Amino acid sequence: MERTLVLIKPDGVCKRLVGEVIERIEKEGFRIVGLKMLSFEEKKAEELYHPHKDKDFFPGLIEFMLTAPSVALVAEGKGVVQRVRELIGERVPEEANTGTIRREYASDGRRNIVHGSDSPGSARREIECLFSPQELYSYQDNYWLESEPG
Ligand code: TYD
Ligand code: MG
Repeated sequence: MERTLVLIKPDGVCKRLVGEVIERIEKEGFRIVGLKMLSFEEKKAEELYHPHKDKDFFPGLIEFMLTAPSVALVAEGKGVVQRVRELIGERVPEEANTGTIRREYASDGRRNIVHGSDSPGSARREIECLFSPQELYSYQDNYWLESEPG
């Protein structure tokens, strides 16, 4: 089953948006299979954002990622990578669609609340960067979703 990495970045945690982000993902019908709070160390932040290491914004991005804790989660479901990207919106809030997380809450194109993997391949790398296999949970939830209220 397809999985994606979602990261509620330091600004999202500081602005009390952890619940809001998780709620939007769950209400789309996606299953959370891993969840934790973490404080990035420089090396870990650099590993996560390794594809951007040669960009001029890289040092500023890494510095931002160390300013407060983050919340990382792995969401699972059909089409989850693309759908979560849609819920998040474009990087720069002014360019993001109305109703997206970044349009509603981002300060600018760096302090933009949340990260979502941009492809299934990126998701695999990013999940492995932040979660050990024992921190990811496989479970059947069909019974609960389909049962009648008692
Ligand atoms: P990018 O992959 O372009 O955006 P997205 O988060 O939508 O996948 O960039 C990754 C992060 O790098 C972005 O969320 C914030 C930071 N960044 C900057 O701080 N400045 C920039 O000019 C760019 C392009 C990115
Ligand atoms: Mg990206």
